Amino acid sequence: MTGRPLFVGIAGLGTVGGGVVRLLRQNAGVIAARAGRAVEVVAVSARDRGRDRGVDVGGMRWYDDPLGLVSDPGVDVVVEVIGGSGDPALGLVLAALRAGRAVVTANKALLALHGSALAAASEAAGAVLAFEAAVAGGIPVIKVLRESLAGNRIRRVAGILNGTCNYILTTMRERGREFADVLAEAQALGYAEADPSFDIDGIDAAHKLAILAALAFGRPIRFDDVHIEGIRNVTALDQSFARELGYRIKLLGIARQTEAGIESRVHPCMIPDAAPLARVDGVYNAVVVEGDFAGRVMLEGRGAGAGPTASSVVADLIDLARGRTTPVWGVDSGYLSEAPSVPIVAHTGAYYLRLMVVDRPGVIADVTCALRDAGVSLESMLQHGRSPGEAVPIVLVTHDTREAQMRAALDRIERLDSVLERPSLIRIEHA
Ligand SMILES: NC(=O)c1ccc[n+]([C@@H]2O[C@H](COP(=O)([O-])OP(=O)(O)OC[C@H]3O[C@@H](n4cnc5c(N)ncnc54)[C@H](OP(=O)(O)O)[C@@H]3O)[C@@H](O)[C@H]2O)c1
Repeated sequence: MTGRPLFVGIAGLGTVGGGVVRLLRQNAGVIAARAGRAVEVVAVSARDRGRDRGVDVGGMRWYDDPLGLVSDPGVDVVVEVIGGSGDPALGLVLAALRAGRAVVTANKALLALHGSALAAASEAAGAVLAFEAAVAGGIPVIKVLRESLAGNRIRRVAGILNGTCNYILTTMRERGREFADVLAEAQALGYAEADPSFDIDGIDAAHKLAILAALAFGRPIRFDDVHIEGIRNVTALDQSFARELGYRIKLLGIARQTEAGIESRVHPCMIPDAAPLARVDGVYNAVVVEGDFAGRVMLEGRGAGAGPTASSVVADLIDLARGRTTPVWGVDSGYLSEAPSVPIVAHTGAYYLRLMVVDRPGVIADVTCALRDAGVSLESMLQHGRSPGEAVPIVLVTHDTREAQMRAALDRIERLDSVLERPSLIRIEHA
């Protein structure tokens, strides 16, 4: 191994950037063997030069402005781990690609919102844009989708893509606790951000799903077409009914090829206890890919953290050192699919509907009439005990039905004076 090292410049020295410096140093020998040459960090950029980062960056060139990494002729590849969908990350990645410099990023928000412009810049300049770390941290799902399963037509990709949500839903189920209570605990433990909305409102998972969908279906990225619902409205009562019905509640991101086009959605799902994804608990992530020849492939692991995320960044650096490259979305731009997106109202599936109603004669008949009139048929119904005149929960599980019909029924049900609270509607996913 006598080749010239791959010289790396890292923008951002936080959780991920620090992890990359540490990993490259700690595993330098094995990485050099696999890369065919040394991979060396020669330059870095962050805001606060005086901050102790737990890693020694003493011998590296320092840039207060990350664009300094692009104009440094001694940097072969820019690792962008600043974060955020705007500048400085956006300007840095575009400038690096336009200068013909390879880029490795962990930034899903940037890719979800600007992926088409970045892919165009990458193709125009022949500069690699790699992003294994952007989806599900340490899980090598990008490589699996784009390379290992490249011979397959992908039918569906589904996953638990946000560790914070999975931790909250798992803890609610295991301890019978309410959402707000578990969220506060997750914040105290550092599993949730002080402003948790990106995670709990499903946006972070949707960024990742948009990337997976673009790769799975060879289509330009379309973040705005992802239907997004978060987990704020999941209650301890729904968790307890889910258990009784043999389901677990998970926030899933699902992208599916249908006859009409590509459906992509992020929302809480009831999935059968026996489904492999149902067993992925706590902060773990998992992705299931269904290919026409490979069948189902499931990958599980840590979706965040310095070590797992650095592991994925370094895998991209080793590919670059070896000269292994792939177009951003797996195909050259002229071969991107024009398959349309399918809106959520066209979704067909089964539903769990929980209502709080006044326990009095005729209430169930009113609810079932509304469902019947909208063409929704019922598979089962649950009601426990009686408390005449009081509020009681009832749960209805439907057969497969179109979302538009379900919404029409719900609209009427919500207006019944015997229905006391906003109904809880959760889609049932069988796989
Ligand atoms: N954390 C994870 O587990 C994880 C997992 C997967 C993907 N990611 C993605 O990885 C990226 C980085 O995440 P992170 O958790 O490492 O973030 P972080 O800990 O907040 O670190 C961000 C770094 O960027 C630097 N920075 C911010 N503004 C800058 C500017 N204008 N110029 C130069 N440097 C600047 C900060 O500098 P100072 O230190 O000087 O403030 C800090 O070192 C994000 O896109 C995130 O979504 C993170």
